[in-house]
Amino acid sequence: MARPIVLDTDTGVDDALAICLAMRSHEIDVACITAVSGNIDVDYATANILRTLDAIEPNRRPPVARGAGRPLVREPVCADEVHGGDGLGGAHALTDDDGRPTYPPSDVPPAQDAAQDVILREIRERDGDITLVAVGPLTNIARCVQADPAAIGSVREIVVMGGVFDRPGNVSICAEFNIYADPHAAAIVFDCGAPITLFPLNVTEQVTLTRDAVNRHGNDGLGRFVRDITGHTMEFAAQYEDAQGMYVHDALTIAYLVDEGLFGFRDACVTIETSGDISAGLTAADLRDRPRFKDTPNARIALSVDAPRFLALFEDRVLRG
Ligand code: BDR
Ligand code: CA
Repeated sequence: MARPIVLDTDTGVDDALAICLAMRSHEIDVACITAVSGNIDVDYATANILRTLDAIEPNRRPPVARGAGRPLVREPVCADEVHGGDGLGGAHALTDDDGRPTYPPSDVPPAQDAAQDVILREIRERDGDITLVAVGPLTNIARCVQADPAAIGSVREIVVMGGVFDRPGNVSICAEFNIYADPHAAAIVFDCGAPITLFPLNVTEQVTLTRDAVNRHGNDGLGRFVRDITGHTMEFAAQYEDAQGMYVHDALTIAYLVDEGLFGFRDACVTIETSGDISAGLTAADLRDRPRFKDTPNARIALSVDAPRFLALFEDRVLRG
């Protein structure tokens, strides 16, 4: 039976790719998709989920709900230099030959209820079956923990893209964007008692989606959507990351639910630094082969991935789509 998930996203480019992979994977039943402020403002994030679903044209559309417009404590930070001002690499402004927008705002409205209420309702109704997949700042999930800790404690698993260990981050010298954007929320979630599987930069930066692969399939269907939204991020990546293409961080969480064997894991106790000009958003864990600090593990951390196998899966389900 397909595994029911709630997908919580600050819909920038790699978030949209995660939505595409989830919607195109029969192993997964996307119960709802919720938006959070992060890469971009939450209203854009909500609109981008709806636009992405329009591009996918699924048989059954999951409900989409708008969530937190700002972090629990800190001022909002965004990542529009990576994802473009619209979060989809400038795709909002693209036009067809006849001058009409290629990706117009969706006709389908978001749900009336706030993301937190939609998430908690799904958890309660599905009685321990839901997997929460969080690929943005953890604000919505932390709010759910605050509102109903027992419900969150009952989920099957929380799968998080975030954090970085023993190497520089991508938004500060020691922090990864999703954790940095709302470290207080992350601290609450890592303390909530539910089983957490974490995909930090250590593993997501092992996979590059190349320009060549995207261009090969970029003429029509979902492949064209992917080509249209990834160009801006590819340009950014060429300056700072990998000249061949871009990282697709968030899509790895979905691939894990399709094929867990793609990844290698280590159990550890993850703590989040919530303060300090330099240290806010730092994720700490003793990942040595013989750990000296043996606190009870609160997470399973993905540290290795079979990148070619992941890319074959992505190509097959999304780029050829
Ligand atoms: C994470 O930050 C965001 O910019 C991406 O969407 C991803 O979730 C990578 O650090
Ligand atoms: Ca994201």
